[in-house]
Amino acid sequence: MRHLPSLKDFSADEIKQILNKAVEIKANPADYYNVLHRKSLAMLFQKTSTRTRVSFEAAMTELGGHAIFVDWATSNFVLSGIEHETEYLSRNVSCIMARLMHHEDLQKIISASRVPVINGCDEMFHPCQALTDVLTIMEYSDNNLEAQHLVYVGVQNNVSNSLALICDKLNIELTLATPEDTANRESLDTDVQHILKTSSRINQTTDPKAAVQNANFVYTDTWIDMQYFNNPDHEAENKARLNMMMPYQINTKLLAGINCKVMHDMPIHDGFEISASMTKDPRAIIYPQSENRLHAQKGLLWWLYQEAGEIA
Ligand code: CP
Repeated sequence: MRHLPSLKDFSADEIKQILNKAVEIKANPADYYNVLHRKSLAMLFQKTSTRTRVSFEAAMTELGGHAIFVDWATSNFVLSGIEHETEYLSRNVSCIMARLMHHEDLQKIISASRVPVINGCDEMFHPCQALTDVLTIMEYSDNNLEAQHLVYVGVQNNVSNSLALICDKLNIELTLATPEDTANRESLDTDVQHILKTSSRINQTTDPKAAVQNANFVYTDTWIDMQYFNNPDHEAENKARLNMMMPYQINTKLLAGINCKVMHDMPIHDGFEISASMTKDPRAIIYPQSENRLHAQKGLLWWLYQEAGEIA
């Protein structure tokens, strides 16, 4: 049985199987209406979400199954051990997707689960987003991934970690344009750091203007992790970071004359990591990218259920 904690233990071939299945289901949705008939997915959330929740629930519905939203705060996950609650959960559903604060808690869920577990984003990784992002790049590059240069401009975090992992596997050129001293310490991962040091295709710079010159795709994400955005205890730190990050904003000045597509995993913070005008720029593919969350989840669910022997 396979889980998706990050993309580390997935081969390039396995990632392509998921992405190709997503493409196939997107083109022929009716062929897959009943593939997960009577299967249930538990969606466990410790943090807020729009896309991850909606896309997984819609994916299960459109594949003939059912999704159950489990709010950590109002469930007995707050009272009991993760292992006990997970053991129960995995006896009543056939797959678990969890969005947690801490990757180590996701690992506990994986250890206790009898069914596949999907990381719906934690402080270290966002693998479902990375699958969506590459699915989108496939669509906008005639599936010519190895010829693409993706430039991520912003803070090194869970999203940039997952992009580094998937680009390294699929041989997509990736440049992280990030200020060195704003990497989220809690997101630093030794394997990703090793890739950044050793891969000829994955590079890091502090100069966003130079980085975007030959970009096919320019990508940004929030500068402040979601759990801290409206947290009054982080107000001063948030303000300092927003000021420091302004040279990294994706805007028409940064991308003047650059023939690229602009990506953002959403939610968007207008006027911070991206200017309001840039979200409406003809180069922006942010909404088709967000739509692809649904299609990528379908490919992933199909693949994990098949690996678990639940479907033919
Ligand atoms: N990109 C993303 O994960 O969106 P949500 O936080 O809304 O799920």
